[in-house]
Amino acid sequence: MKVVAFNGSPNKEGNTYHAIKIMADELEKEGIETEIIHVGNKAIRGCMACNQCVKNKNEKCVLPGDEVNEWIQKMKEAEGIILGSPVHYSSMGATMKAFLDRAFYVTSVNNGMLRHKVGTAVVAVRRSGGVAAFDQLNNYINYSEMLMPTSNYWNVIHGTRPGEALQDQEGVQIMRILAKNMVWLLKLVENGKGAVKEPERENKVYTNFIR
Ligand SMILES: Cc1cc2nc3c(=O)[nH]c(=O)nc-3n(C[C@H](O)[C@H](O)[C@H](O)COP(=O)(O)O)c2cc1C
Repeated sequence: MKVVAFNGSPNKEGNTYHAIKIMADELEKEGIETEIIHVGNKAIRGCMACNQCVKNKNEKCVLPGDEVNEWIQKMKEAEGIILGSPVHYSSMGATMKAFLDRAFYVTSVNNGMLRHKVGTAVVAVRRSGGVAAFDQLNNYINYSEMLMPTSNYWNVIHGTRPGEALQDQEGVQIMRILAKNMVWLLKLVENGKGAVKEPERENKVYTNFIR
């Protein structure tokens, strides 16, 4: 089994990275390969709302010149996904949002490519805005019919300068427990295949409250 983790921080080895790394170490201990992809230092523009992905249905965003399509395929190939972001102005980082809007729009309009994969989010913050950013990341996971492991608190770790989060003992434990629960859920899903019937996929009902 494989997990792909996205680090939405511009810092390569900042606090978001450490939150992910704590998880990666636990996952690797259980034989689950984990790849960490650095998103936050890339030039990723936001969704143009051109809806070409809805028309083309080829698992791709039409915007050229960046790694978004490659990362969509990484998510498709993985059994588990971790979305990690620093808190910037009480939100997730802007580059991470640009990536997630485009990637999750594409996966959604291509027959729900992430349905029933295991997914979770982690956030690094100096002081406040952690839960707001966590909520934003969770929205992508919820929208995609993914299966979400949890920890014993909200998945937020505290620190300012890169690496300080490792001193947040409670935050470190939150990430470790989250990883252990993620491993267990991944194994349950893997072992449940064939034994427990997957619910049938329903076509999405779209209403806009007017018609
Ligand atoms: C542009 C910017 C905005 C930030 N906004 C907040 C904020 O709203 N609340 C907060 O507590 N920390 C804020 N911070 C601090 C970061 O969340 C904190 O340093 C975090 O650990 C960074 O994670 P990283 O090392 O993975 O980049 C901000 C940092 C930057 C660069």
